Amino acid sequence: MISGAKITLIVTGSIAAYKSAELVRELSRSGATVQPILTRAAMEFITPLTLQALAGQPVTTDLFDLRSEADIGHIALADTADVVLVAPATADFIAKAAVGIADDVALAVLLATKAPVVIAPAMNVNMWENERTQANVERLRAQGVSFVEPGVGELACGWQGAGRFAETAHIVEHLQDVLTPNDLAGSRVIVTAGPTREPIDPVRFVSNRSTGRMGYALARVCSWSGGEVHLVSGPTELAAPAGVKVHHVQTAEEMRNKVFELALAPATEQLRSQFVFMAAAVTDHRPAQVAETKLKHDKTKSYDLHLEPCPDILEELGRRRTEIAEASKLRIKLIGFSAEVGDEDAILGWARQKLERKNVDLMVGNPADEAFGKETNRVWLLERGGRQEEVATADKQYIAGRILRAALRV
Ligand SMILES: Cc1cc2nc3c(=O)[nH]c(=O)nc-3n(C[C@H](O)[C@H](O)[C@H](O)COP(=O)(O)O)c2cc1C
Repeated sequence: MISGAKITLIVTGSIAAYKSAELVRELSRSGATVQPILTRAAMEFITPLTLQALAGQPVTTDLFDLRSEADIGHIALADTADVVLVAPATADFIAKAAVGIADDVALAVLLATKAPVVIAPAMNVNMWENERTQANVERLRAQGVSFVEPGVGELACGWQGAGRFAETAHIVEHLQDVLTPNDLAGSRVIVTAGPTREPIDPVRFVSNRSTGRMGYALARVCSWSGGEVHLVSGPTELAAPAGVKVHHVQTAEEMRNKVFELALAPATEQLRSQFVFMAAAVTDHRPAQVAETKLKHDKTKSYDLHLEPCPDILEELGRRRTEIAEASKLRIKLIGFSAEVGDEDAILGWARQKLERKNVDLMVGNPADEAFGKETNRVWLLERGGRQEEVATADKQYIAGRILRAALRV
């Protein structure tokens, strides 16, 4: 993924070139090494010094630079890159790249590289929609270049329409996708996320503080890894990750039904295995009676709420795993989550007990107070046979990657 990756970043002469500074900063902060290249026109909009300071790497601007070309620097920039990113890319640069022109250092690197190439265009709407530009884009796509679609909106030139340089977060997400190995190609992946809401009446419910971030991060990472990802989500504020099919549910019963409908579905030809990540904080108990209309309460009285257990989806998956494998014709791996309070021994004890009792392949144990409502998490990955691994506090995206690696291994 991005952390540890070498990214050769080509900045071209668009008015949006100043935004490459933010991009370099974000990529460097994510742990990538960024090697910037500026076209002559790009230097009219942003200085090499700015990008050099932000990247902490020398900036290349000239094909005929005596120092950097002592060891054929432009070929080194092409060869050492894990990905070549052109952001922002002008119409001019796209046109030259489409026909293989190499009359400056940026174009020469693009022609010489065997690394994946990602282009984020930025231009006036008429330039973008011009059929010559579109033909150039199609030509590059056919050669395996991937494009970060430009946004639609107000453009620097005053026009409205498509051509806006994509948001930094969007470009970073696209790179994550390109850089992640396709370990889940041929896999159906079902991820549950968020809380469930168990109604008391039409306006009140029993629920918990889960935000869904862990499950959404897992779905995103699984999609980057080439999986066919279904996210069964309780109510959250989060946006659907790109490439993921989201199934919205409210109650534990609805979540159970959707998970089984997906897991039991016969596989299409290209699928070979399925993974179920039960990251949702399914409410444990629900009101035994649900009122059809809003309950009238007398504030001078106390009331009892009688609760009954909600379906235990993970337990049922573990119990019916042979049936699921036969119906879907897919090998199945079950990954459970156990959020508990207490000291490390108590949390690990509960997690290991659930690993055995629920017949799952991997249990992710974590302290509930360090996970709920937070951007970060700290987890233990418990496998059958006794192996366990601690992952120190990190953002949920990183933790999701570690959980996926463990799920692929077990
Ligand atoms: C103020 C200004 C803004 C420009 N913005 C863009 C732009 O956003 N997108 C684009 O394709 N060209 C833009 N151009 C035109 C390019 O700079 C021009 O085509 C140049 O030759 C591109 O060189 P390069 O592709 O080698 O970087 C702009 C030019 C000027 C003067």
